[in-house]
Amino acid sequence: MCGIIGYIGPKVAYPILLTGLKRMEYRGYDSAGISTISIEDNQRAVNIVKKQGKVSNLENKQTELQGNLGLAHTRWATHGQPSELNSHPHFNDDKSLMLVHNGIIENYLTIKRNLEQRGYVFHTQTDTEVLTKLIDYYHKKCKQKLSTTLQNYEQKKDPLELALRAALHDVVGAYGIVLFHKDTNKLYAAKHGSPLVIGIGKNEHFVASDPAAFLDHTRRVLYLEDEDIAIIKENSYELKSLCSHNGECIKRKEDLVDWDITAVEKNGYEHFMLKEIMEQPQTLANCLAGRLDPQLNDIKFTLKLTLNFIKNIKRISIIACGTSSYAAMAGKFLIEKYLRIPTEVEVASEWRYKNPIISKDDLVIVISQSGETADTLAALKLAKQFGAKTFGIINVVGSTMSREVDSGIYIHAGPEICVASTKAFTAQVLCLNFLLIKLGKIRGDLTETQIQRMISNLLNTPELVKQSLNNIEQIKAAANLIKDKQSIFYLGRGINFATAKEGAIKIKEISYIHAEDFASGEMKHGPIALLEKGFPVVTFVNKNDPLYEKNLSSIQEAKARGAYIIVVADHIDSTLQSYADTILQVPKVPDYLQPLINTIPLQLLAYYTAKLRGCEIDQPKNLAKSVTVE
Ligand code: F6R
Repeated sequence: MCGIIGYIGPKVAYPILLTGLKRMEYRGYDSAGISTISIEDNQRAVNIVKKQGKVSNLENKQTELQGNLGLAHTRWATHGQPSELNSHPHFNDDKSLMLVHNGIIENYLTIKRNLEQRGYVFHTQTDTEVLTKLIDYYHKKCKQKLSTTLQNYEQKKDPLELALRAALHDVVGAYGIVLFHKDTNKLYAAKHGSPLVIGIGKNEHFVASDPAAFLDHTRRVLYLEDEDIAIIKENSYELKSLCSHNGECIKRKEDLVDWDITAVEKNGYEHFMLKEIMEQPQTLANCLAGRLDPQLNDIKFTLKLTLNFIKNIKRISIIACGTSSYAAMAGKFLIEKYLRIPTEVEVASEWRYKNPIISKDDLVIVISQSGETADTLAALKLAKQFGAKTFGIINVVGSTMSREVDSGIYIHAGPEICVASTKAFTAQVLCLNFLLIKLGKIRGDLTETQIQRMISNLLNTPELVKQSLNNIEQIKAAANLIKDKQSIFYLGRGINFATAKEGAIKIKEISYIHAEDFASGEMKHGPIALLEKGFPVVTFVNKNDPLYEKNLSSIQEAKARGAYIIVVADHIDSTLQSYADTILQVPKVPDYLQPLINTIPLQLLAYYTAKLRGCEIDQPKNLAKSVTVE
């Protein structure tokens, strides 16, 4: 979703801001803009360039965008259509105040009406223009008030900081904002619900919605928390709380980003998606590193839950969105099968509004690649309000969810740039296996022999994934066969139902072919009516599956109606050959690893189909990487 970068320092801001925007292009956007000002310039002229479409439209603007203080933004439209006018930065009437914003101001219409009554005129349909003019309104008021006050300490107050505080108290909604005023050599940032991070360089500072935006310059960071206000100068920054009226500074620990810029580059691959699919043996090895202890027959991570709680968990709720919710479904299957703990999986956007039943004996797990998804975050906060213990399975280190959960585990997949999630899914499934073993060991639901076998299989996942990546030519041939189809079915049973869902969302997102997933047994209750000659059906057959015969029957049902059958299978024999038109072979693994292994050919199938259809693979239309609005 929208990207923000700000810079203040001795260098020319424009190329830093432009590169920062490019590093965040993966988040999905429809327009972009940059505003700069020279700290040295006595005229204090503010420069601004905004364009609809790609960040590349902002290239070669160095003469228009001089200065060493600036901010930039990529917008993903929420209020008002994608257009140059609606794009950020937004500004006040004399263009002295520039502001970029991620998130949604829910009460913007009420604020707009109030400001209109005070003479403000609005030129866009955005909530951000309203916020900008609200700050402008308070800024003028505060300046006036401070200029008439006789007390010295009052005069030392910064009217823009006071205005920002006043405006944000009026606002309902989510925001990550960065702004500057032409009369102050400072950047101001504030956060509530949308991520912001300060980059601390030598005599220079950055502020962005994603550290990838400034990682070329510094890895030293400070993640802002909700209700933080940051006042950022060339050589220093101050952190304050919106909740404290005295404006005293807060001290918070800085962090070091532990990945480097090559992680957000394509490294010779045509698309980030292909790179991210191909690097899964490595990301899974990173996820495993140092966590499995065959000697102790245990997993090394801290649950921060008492023995008593773990032994008496009444129910587990796993809350997530999209692909992360399909990893959750796989987790539910395994937890119920191996630990016999009742487990519900629900998409966060439903769960948060259904008045969920939660008790203090429940464990609520959130799964999120970004750690910022608005619905999942809201669900997490709700679970905490109800007194549930919370656990996170999260990729982005330092993300809001990672700081909100009681305990959790990072999946260590590294930055996922392609909007469609691939390597995060497999690492999420691996982490669910860690949790399964950990809980199983403590509760005594798994025997030491079972755990030993599981650990040794888990340690083998990077190698098994490598083998699953081998079917490229066959997958390309299958992609060629389905590329012009209107619709595809993905069928799965048991643990493979989650993988069917993940396969279907992948092809929908990036190739724009309609795809539906069904529990295989549901076909005959309706969807089968749609089957006809050549209709692609993708499904799974695992030789040791207790429902092996039933899977073959489902295939037969579809085949009898002329469907074109693509099977992901862990074996090839004459029976399967007589049923399937294409077999994508993967290694034989126990059920707890099947979602991870069986999804690999489906990721590649989606990729090559989208490529044949000439789709924009890394940034599919209408989609954003991290959905930080409802
Ligand atoms: C699908 C995809 C989305 C995300 C969903 C949740 O390929 O990427 O469905 O999985 O938006 O995002 P996170 O995991 O960041 O909470």
